[in-house]
Amino acid sequence: MISVKPIILCVDDEPANLALLQAVLVPQGYEAIIANNGAEALRIIGKQHVDLILLDIIMPDVDGFTICRNIKKDERFQQIPVIMITVLSSKENRIKGIEAGAEDFISKPFDHEEVLARIKMLLKMKDLANDLKTAYTNINSLTTFGKATIENFDPLSFDFSAQINAIVPRLIRNTSDEIDKPQIVLVGTSDQNNNWTWHQYENVFNEPDTAMVDSNSSFSTIFNLPEKGKSQTVFLNHEDIQKSQLQKFVNALVSFNITVSDAVCYLSRDICILALNYGRDVSTYDAALLDGLVLNILFLKSLSSQMREVENAFEYTVYALARASEVNDYDTGNHILRVGEYSALLARNLKMSDEFIRTIRVQSTLHDVGKICIPPNILKKPEKLTPNEIIEMKEHTLYGAKIIGNHPKLKMGKAIALTHHERYDGTGYPHGLKGGGIPMEGMIVNIVDQYDAMRDVRIYKPAFDHATTYKIITEGDGRTMPRHFDPQVLKAFKESASQLEDLHEEMKK
Ligand SMILES: [Fe+2]
Ligand SMILES: [Fe+2]
Repeated sequence: MISVKPIILCVDDEPANLALLQAVLVPQGYEAIIANNGAEALRIIGKQHVDLILLDIIMPDVDGFTICRNIKKDERFQQIPVIMITVLSSKENRIKGIEAGAEDFISKPFDHEEVLARIKMLLKMKDLANDLKTAYTNINSLTTFGKATIENFDPLSFDFSAQINAIVPRLIRNTSDEIDKPQIVLVGTSDQNNNWTWHQYENVFNEPDTAMVDSNSSFSTIFNLPEKGKSQTVFLNHEDIQKSQLQKFVNALVSFNITVSDAVCYLSRDICILALNYGRDVSTYDAALLDGLVLNILFLKSLSSQMREVENAFEYTVYALARASEVNDYDTGNHILRVGEYSALLARNLKMSDEFIRTIRVQSTLHDVGKICIPPNILKKPEKLTPNEIIEMKEHTLYGAKIIGNHPKLKMGKAIALTHHERYDGTGYPHGLKGGGIPMEGMIVNIVDQYDAMRDVRIYKPAFDHATTYKIITEGDGRTMPRHFDPQVLKAFKESASQLEDLHEEMKK
């Protein structure tokens, strides 16, 4: 903590009165500064911090009432308490003083004890008002941040470290007069193997600065951390630190050029946050604020991991269903998984949203789920299919859409099952949709499904290499033609061709 004496500005045109006030105030631990007139008083409060003003009323140039009014109408100074000291003790003058904004009145000749008692009381009130204002600002900032976090909260892409990186710089002071904020914040996070990583956050020349300070977990071994699942919030001022469990930690920080004068700490087995060096004594209030902040982040973290578990179970079920559809089909190995990866690759090239990419990777695996309803003798027939068998085979698209059903979460999967054999020029099936009438996801799966089928050995054909397959898709072979594909998707296919080849190589059965 920065130890500061309260500064009291004494304004009087009479040097003897100023000397008397100084003689009363200084021995009591106050810093007394003086002004001989109103103009000087206003100049002083404009350039330096003042905690309270003792103001004479009768002065030759500008009187005390006018000075008081000027102070109270200026937003920068109006919170400074003003005590008027005067021989004018009439009721009218007191009313005039109150109207000018003075907090208190003392009659000359004044009683020393009374002056000191009133100063003490007004300074206390000022501190409380400041605390209230800071609390309001902090709660406001926390609420704004919380609101923004919740509005943008995407449990599947929630990034705990990014969240910490976003919030911690908001806690730290920018300038030395922001005494309600810590100068440094240290954040330690542990991974599943209980390895800790510590980062230091500080504003350097008004810019947030972050550095890893301890990567070998040595800090964490210094604390007696609460048991798993529990947390502890402590606040310590300078005199407490030497007696606390933090003493070893504070000594360890010296080697990182960090001197600790006070600290508010949130300690747990998952995360430790240490807010260090406020410009004033820290209190239970600062501890509660930090606690609230960390709980907010931890709540989102826990929600995110639960949502991810649910999402994993959902994806597992989708894959299981996709696999089931292959039971009666020829052996397609990792075909469905490759289609998922290829689709995600093309979607990324097409600048689709993260949500779209994530969804198409999983749900494109259901493209042929309707084949579960096609008789095995048709699916596995090595010879050319009869016209009736072709009609029956084409129905796998309609069966697929029916099996997937109407759950909103599987909307893309249903669209893919239904449209992955439509062609951009309208010659596809089941509905002969054309151009923009075919959803993007259907057009993406259409091209990558054909790419993968050509690369694979099938009962009715040999495997083609990448170059041959690429040539057939981009130039056509009479059966497959470039006009079948959405031009944008075909462009993305061409641009992603080498990555598709790599994926095929990596994901061969
Ligand atoms: Fe199909
Ligand atoms: Fe397929």
